[in-house]
Amino acid sequence: MGGLLSAFIGGLFLSLPMVVPANHYGRFRFCQLGDIQIGFGQDGWESDMHRMHLAAQQVNAQKFDFCIAVGDLTNGRLRHEISAFQQVYPEFDMPVHLLPGNHDISSLSTLEQFTHDYNVSDHSSFTHKGYRFILLNSITLISDLPEFKNHTAHEWEWFEQQLEDAKHAKEEIIVAHHHPPFEHSENERDSYWNFPKRVRGKYLKLIRKHGVHHILVGHRHETKTISSHNQDFTIYVLAGTARFFDNNGFGINYFNVSSKHSPRHVKHQYALLEGVKHHKRSRGQPTGCPDIFQHPPEATGPPTES
Ligand SMILES: *[C@@H]1O[C@H](CO)[C@@H](O)[C@H](O)[C@H]1NC(C)=O
Ligand SMILES: *[C@@H]1O[C@H](CO)[C@@H](O)[C@H](O)[C@H]1NC(C)=O
Ligand SMILES: *[C@@H]1O[C@H](CO)[C@@H](O)[C@H](O)[C@H]1NC(C)=O
Repeated sequence: MGGLLSAFIGGLFLSLPMVVPANHYGRFRFCQLGDIQIGFGQDGWESDMHRMHLAAQQVNAQKFDFCIAVGDLTNGRLRHEISAFQQVYPEFDMPVHLLPGNHDISSLSTLEQFTHDYNVSDHSSFTHKGYRFILLNSITLISDLPEFKNHTAHEWEWFEQQLEDAKHAKEEIIVAHHHPPFEHSENERDSYWNFPKRVRGKYLKLIRKHGVHHILVGHRHETKTISSHNQDFTIYVLAGTARFFDNNGFGINYFNVSSKHSPRHVKHQYALLEGVKHHKRSRGQPTGCPDIFQHPPEATGPPTES
């Protein structure tokens, strides 16, 4: 009886090998690149370019399915910085999805420049083996500049639609953007580093409503993970390859995804950038950063070098 049954099941599998879409399951690996920000390093833009090259070599050896660069691709959008980026970019063997940071986009004209220089949309999504990756432009998402008004409204609408679409497709969701929504607590006051409270609550409500467990960000020039107060999602903050202001060096986040059935099935590991001449901490704070929204009077303004 058991033999007959397994013979039958065996036959069924042989004749119908693709009952379940194979693409929907299985393992994959991806990486997060932090602020590449060519032109920001203390040792000159050529060193930033070299570290981007080292990052390409390192992730190529890991054979990731794809990577996500969380914004600030260059420091000043200068011609030589952008061409340095464009020169190294093809060295990556896998797709590298590019997000904008506040150094890339701070006005309508720089938004246009970004899409033109990198030939990408400022926000986009893609699906991979049961996961939907939603890549946001956090500048227009959190800005209240009048010139962005239309973009801001459309991006929120688009974001909510993506979350709904993922739910209907039964996909797990990973969200990526440049700014951390918060750093220490969900109710902390507005600062240069976080989402202003004006939109932070709305964002976090959507994240919880749609069961998002993983959020990838940059901007802070530090490497750490931040957990929500009830541990329902994790924010992966990565310094990147231009400058870091903590003790964690230049590096890359590796992710192994083993299934889509539990947040625990996304395993994270931080890897130092290999082959660099130094892991020398930057002093002070980033300075001269474009401001993308009006801060309320009690907020801490853009940081200055101490
Ligand atoms: C820009 O992107 C489109 C679509 O992704 C691609 O077909 C085209 O070749 C790209 N152009 C350049 C100059 O890379
Ligand atoms: C606002 O954006 C929508 C969609 O992108 C576009 O159709 C519309 O023309 C824009 N309006 C203005 C005033 O820019
Ligand atoms: C991810 O997978 C690789 C290759 O299978 C393995 O070497 C590595 O230890 C895994 N990392 C984590 C954090 O599970």
